[in-house]
Amino acid sequence: MQISAVSNRINEWSGSVLIVGVLEGTIDNQINLFKTTVKETYLNQRFNEAKFKGKKNQSLSIEIIEGKVQKIVFVGLGKAENLLIDDLRKAASIGTRQVLSFERKVGIFFPWDAFDLSSAAFAVGEAVRLTSIKDLRFKSETKESTQIDEVELIGLDVKVAQSAISEINPICEGVKLARELVSAPPNFLTPSELAKEAKKLATDYDLDLKILDKKECQEKGMGAYLAVAKGSDLDPHFIHLKYSPKIVKNKIVLIGKGLTFDSGGYNLKVGASQIEKMKYDMGGSASVLGAARAIGELKPSNTEVHFIVAACENMINGSALHPGDIVKASNGKTIEVNNTDAEGRLTLADALVYACELQPNAIVDLATLTGACVIALGDEIAGLWTDNDQLSEQLARAAGKAGEGIWRMPMRDSYKSGIKSSIADLQNTGPRPGGSITAALFLKEFVNSSIPWAHIDIAGTCWTEKDRDINPKGATGYGVRTLVNWIKELNFKSN
Ligand code: BES
Ligand code: MN
Ligand code: ZN
Repeated sequence: MQISAVSNRINEWSGSVLIVGVLEGTIDNQINLFKTTVKETYLNQRFNEAKFKGKKNQSLSIEIIEGKVQKIVFVGLGKAENLLIDDLRKAASIGTRQVLSFERKVGIFFPWDAFDLSSAAFAVGEAVRLTSIKDLRFKSETKESTQIDEVELIGLDVKVAQSAISEINPICEGVKLARELVSAPPNFLTPSELAKEAKKLATDYDLDLKILDKKECQEKGMGAYLAVAKGSDLDPHFIHLKYSPKIVKNKIVLIGKGLTFDSGGYNLKVGASQIEKMKYDMGGSASVLGAARAIGELKPSNTEVHFIVAACENMINGSALHPGDIVKASNGKTIEVNNTDAEGRLTLADALVYACELQPNAIVDLATLTGACVIALGDEIAGLWTDNDQLSEQLARAAGKAGEGIWRMPMRDSYKSGIKSSIADLQNTGPRPGGSITAALFLKEFVNSSIPWAHIDIAGTCWTEKDRDINPKGATGYGVRTLVNWIKELNFKSN
């Protein structure tokens, strides 16, 4: 999809479909603006019939028999004084859904001036792009499907918008990669396939790659990670990608939970626990690799970025973990596995220890870690745990800019008593109440306290059951844009 800014006036533009963002109370302006395209009385009548006033989420499609444009989709933006960039994004996706099966060259006309032009152009372009991604990889027949080939953002100062627009493709390709990794089923996306994907990124974007096999992980004493992996016939692959700019002023590590399937292990997922959905338990790793894809192309200066995934499957065979086993992580801590279904934190424990050894300025992990987080925050908001206020603010700002929901949750130290074991240093699960807090506290045991660290639980946000804003039903690619925004901001700070 080609996205560009054009400085045409709206009634000079020609193409098949127009999406027009309408502020509440500006209907008369619209009628005036489009009077050369649609008869004023007709447009007025259609607005009236549909009670279209430009309220948020309202939309109205008008087909035009002859002229330069065949269809106009008006989408409401609500009141000017309440307008946020996120409203542009949402309106752009509502419009996009209405033209998806229609035509190839789409023009978009929004009240750009209400914002900094670059941000508005970026948000709208990105929204169109992300809304229209469709995963047809597993269909045997890919019927001739209509795709939007060309998008023009109309009435923009091309020079001003250009550099923001040029970032849309790398970032959206990162989100697309994350979505595709998540929606690929577990018989396709195995731990070794995930490693292959990392290899591909390394080759395409000149990143350094190290993959530790089982033996190398054993040598590092990664007993927690390997304990999860050993119940599967497929070998674990510990992935470490690195992006290095010419001058390094910051060093950060991104870690993603990479369970290509989570059966629960001997604490098998039964009943309503949706075992069939557990291909998405590598959502964290998908976001991290998606971010690597974007960073690899954007090549920000100053920040060295490490991308780490302890990939494996949580399965059941004769040598799988027993509930009650005691394992030892690479920092020497012993863990009583009182529930084999709390496997993500076991894999992350060794990944966090490994990350700390790199002595970074900050570590962020993303993980589909707990069902409790889904219960607490639903599918639009990820949970954020950190003891570091500055990191919390940075990540919240980065997420806010991306329109990705995030909410800081308490790292309540007293709840640590819930993961005390009578026989080992820790047990891997606590009581059900506050289950995502004890999960975060468990991870904290594997982080050097002098390194700023944040944990983001994306169990709810990595997937949506319905078309929602810029996310078509399925994998969302949540986190990629937040991470990229955060890294760009760090880069800006160290300039
Ligand atoms: N991958 C799951 C968490 C999950 C649940 C993600 C639902 C997405 C949707 C994780 O490994 C898990 O099974 N967690 C358990 C922890 C429990 C045993 C303490 C859970 O949340 O039930
Ligand atoms: Mn589990
Ligand atoms: Zn899991």
